[in-house]
Amino acid sequence: MVLDYSGSPNLGSPDGFASRLETEGLVLLPGQPFAVGRDEADLVSPRWSDGRAKNISLSPGGDVRGAAEEATAERRLGRLMARYRDWAESLILEKAPRYEGSVERGRTSLRTRDVAEGAESKRKDDRRLHVDAFASQPTGGKRILRVFTNVNPQGEARLWRVGEGFEPHARRWAHRLRRPWPGEAWLLRRLGATRATRTAYDAAMLGLHDAAKLDDAYQRDAPARDLVRPAGASWIAYTDSVVHAAMRGRFMLEQTFYLPLEAMAAPETSPARILERILGRRLT
Ligand code: SIN
Ligand code: FE
Repeated sequence: MVLDYSGSPNLGSPDGFASRLETEGLVLLPGQPFAVGRDEADLVSPRWSDGRAKNISLSPGGDVRGAAEEATAERRLGRLMARYRDWAESLILEKAPRYEGSVERGRTSLRTRDVAEGAESKRKDDRRLHVDAFASQPTGGKRILRVFTNVNPQGEARLWRVGEGFEPHARRWAHRLRRPWPGEAWLLRRLGATRATRTAYDAAMLGLHDAAKLDDAYQRDAPARDLVRPAGASWIAYTDSVVHAAMRGRFMLEQTFYLPLEAMAAPETSPARILERILGRRLT
């Protein structure tokens, strides 16, 4: 399941990396491919947080959110996150040239919180195994592709757990995935609860996310293995198909991308197509 792309056989072909990433969901990069500079090191600290937002982030439009209102710090944080975003984007396009022109930038985040602090609810607790689905930000079927780097300055690892494959995971919860009521998507949009229309696909993914996170027995007994990412390490994941949980660690840079299914080398491996096969209905 975990793949180190160096030395993988099938990567010589132009779509090799993309199809391996799509099939495996997770690629660990060797070495320390992204480093925080000496002049940026002071930014990797909780002191720049506004104390309210979970993370400091950079929107694709260039707005810094969640940072303390100190203009210089905010500009420098913005530059660090933009540098990370540009690096992550070049990485994806170099490894998966077929995504060029299709991959869309999402937010960049600097996560300074200690994962061990937990969350206000089970649904928001990323220490519980889940696939990513955002309640307020439907993707409409696009893939969620993320590039992570553990930038912990004290040399502490980030510990993840990685669970079962997407297909068995989806089959496990299929009976719990309800169809949206007629008018539900419209109403959510109207009330401002979603930033785009929540499609049947988004509703199913949110159903999976919630069903897994809210089930104590699943969290206790589900098949999963530890994934230790040392300080300095980077990794790429389709977090909408990799069942994952973040168990320990602090200080991480993360870049989100969205990819339309048409750009995939193996769209049949996407959560949308797998769910459609299982549920026997169109979702996108
Ligand atoms: C998550 O996507 O569930 C959290 C990942 C992390 O912060 O390590
Ligand atoms: Fe997640």
